[in-house]
Amino acid sequence: MIAIAIDGPGGAGKTTISKEIAKRLGIVYVDTGALYRTVGFYAKECGLSVEDSKKSEKIVPLLSDIRVDINYYGGTQHVLLNGKDLGDRIREPEISMYASAVSSVSEVRDFLLDTQRNIAENNDVIMDGRDIGTVIIPDAEVKIFLTASDEARAKRRYKELREKGMDVDYEQVLSELIERDLADSQRDIAPCKPAKDAVVIDNSDFSLEESIAAILKTVEDKTGVRALEKQDV
Ligand code: DC
Repeated sequence: MIAIAIDGPGGAGKTTISKEIAKRLGIVYVDTGALYRTVGFYAKECGLSVEDSKKSEKIVPLLSDIRVDINYYGGTQHVLLNGKDLGDRIREPEISMYASAVSSVSEVRDFLLDTQRNIAENNDVIMDGRDIGTVIIPDAEVKIFLTASDEARAKRRYKELREKGMDVDYEQVLSELIERDLADSQRDIAPCKPAKDAVVIDNSDFSLEESIAAILKTVEDKTGVRALEKQDV
C-alpha cells in the first residue's frame, strides 16, 4: 500500500493537483475536506449559526442523526449524507466557514476518523486535508505540505468558484480564506501544520503542471513509484 498525504491551507490547489496525481499514479484520491463540509452543511440545515457550529454542545447531538459515507462512482468521489449526494452544494463559500467551524470540535473529528483510516488501510491513496500527515496517516510514505501566498490562493479559489457559476466577490473570498486558515491552523486539535517529516512546497509561482511535477518528483524520490506516461492515462 502507498499513502500520499497532502496537507495545507485552502486554495493551495490540493484538490485539483491530487486528483490529477491519483490519475497518473492509478491510485485513489480522497478529499477529506468534503467530509467536514458535509457535517457543516448539516449544521446549517439544522439552523445552527457558524459560531454555534464551533460548540460541541450544539454540534454533538446532531451527529447521532447522520451517516457520512464516501462512495466512488463515475471515477470520482461522492460524499453521501444519509445516503444523499449533495454535489456542489457543499462547495458554497458559506459551507466552507461551517466546515471549518465544525472541524474544530474533537467529537466531529473522531466521528470522521474511521472513514478516512479505512480507505487508507484498504487502498493506495493520495489523501488531502489538514491533518493527514500528522493524525490520519502518520506513517504515510510521502507527506507534502502544499502552501501558497494568500493572494495566489484567493485568486485560484475565486476562479474556481466563478467557474462553478457562483456569484462571489474577490475581496470576500480573500478575507474568508485568511479567516479560515487562521482558525484551521490555530485550533487546539489537529491544527493545519506540516508534519515533522513533510516536504513543504510553496506553489505561489507554479503552474498546475509544475505543482504536479514537484509532487511526483517527491513521490518518486521517496518511494520509487513513477507516474504512468501521460498518453497511457
Ligand atoms: O479542504 P477544504 O477547504 O474542503 O476543507 C474545509 C474545512 O474542513 C477546512 O477549513 C478545515 C476542515 N478540514 C479539516 O479540519 N481537516 C481535514 N483533513 C480537511 C478539512
